[in-house]
Amino acid sequence: VGLLTLDALEPGRFDRADLEAVAGFASLAAAAIHTAELIETLERLAEARGQLAQDLVQDELRRSGGTLVGRSPAMLSLQRELDTVAPSDLTVLLLGETGTGKELAARSVHDRSARRERPLVYVNCAALPESVAESELFGHEEGAFTGAVRRRLGKFQLADGGTIFLDEVGELPISIQTKILRTLQFQEVQPVGSDDVRRVDIRVIAATNRQLEEEARRGRFRLDLYHRLAVFPVRLAPLRERREDIALLAGHFLDRARLKLGVGRLRFSPAAVRRLEAHDWPGNVRELEHVVTRAVLRAGQRPGGRTTSVEVEHLQDALGPAPEPGPRPPRRRSTCKPG
Ligand SMILES: Nc1ncnc2c1ncn2[C@@H]1O[C@H](COP(=O)(O)OP(=O)(O)OP(=O)(O)O)[C@@H](O)[C@H]1O
Ligand SMILES: [Mg+2]
Repeated sequence: VGLLTLDALEPGRFDRADLEAVAGFASLAAAAIHTAELIETLERLAEARGQLAQDLVQDELRRSGGTLVGRSPAMLSLQRELDTVAPSDLTVLLLGETGTGKELAARSVHDRSARRERPLVYVNCAALPESVAESELFGHEEGAFTGAVRRRLGKFQLADGGTIFLDEVGELPISIQTKILRTLQFQEVQPVGSDDVRRVDIRVIAATNRQLEEEARRGRFRLDLYHRLAVFPVRLAPLRERREDIALLAGHFLDRARLKLGVGRLRFSPAAVRRLEAHDWPGNVRELEHVVTRAVLRAGQRPGGRTTSVEVEHLQDALGPAPEPGPRPPRRRSTCKPG
């Protein structure tokens, strides 16, 4: 592994040196260096393995995070609808209660479209105060208003060639609805403080948990904008209308939570699955995801060794005690008609 040299200022200093002792010392030094090198290699290897494992976990979480899980008739029909509309440039309006997967569906439409390599620009219409909405969406010129020190592109221009996702579109102030309608009609935007219009090529996806048609009929949403958006309406069913998906989704979230939290092997007890299936899920899939993540955390942390199943008690705080079983439907008597 190396060379041991002995130096002295006086000549003949090593004439009577104990060569055996020196050789012994050299071997010891060689062994120590060799061991240190081995340890270093092992450390590097472990680090690389750890990094690899971490990357694989991140990869898996990213990959499975974008999939719409479910095999109920409602989910299969949703998948068919998304497949049908995605390759077209039609405007899609996603309707459904909170947590039913509208954002996931919007991403899925973009990813299945020819625009998938181009940006998907997200606009949260509920968090767009009227005062800044116009400049956020359509951009502004330098000096258009106090504070506009530089020219700025709006979301519609950022989405040029790609897709714009107008989330919570039902919350848009009426004045902004009028301007968006223009953009959708003519595929052009007029930045604040500019006399010119700029052409944009965009695909629009909008989502809301409101009864938008009803809102439009009552004058709370522009009817013409509603019709522009509802070119291809897609409804996402609440979870209580597709209980067949609950066990599958719960398993999906259990796997993700295990990976994220670094918990070992874990599964639901049959009673826990029945408890999940009995719940009404007003917060839909998002609520299920949170309940499962908390349950995994609890089940994984149980003192006294490793637990291998998530039990009803791990769900109890979120779901409360099991509902009373309703009155049983009367038993049907089979009658046999002679002949
Ligand atoms: N079918 C599904 N498969 C897997 N994950 C889902 C599914 N539906 C929803 N999720 C997950 O549930 C969570 C809520 O979904 P999402 O944000 O798309 O709901 P939303 O309809 O946009 O709700 P909100 O109206 O409150 O914004 C997300 O973490 C999403 O990944
Ligand atoms: Mg959403």
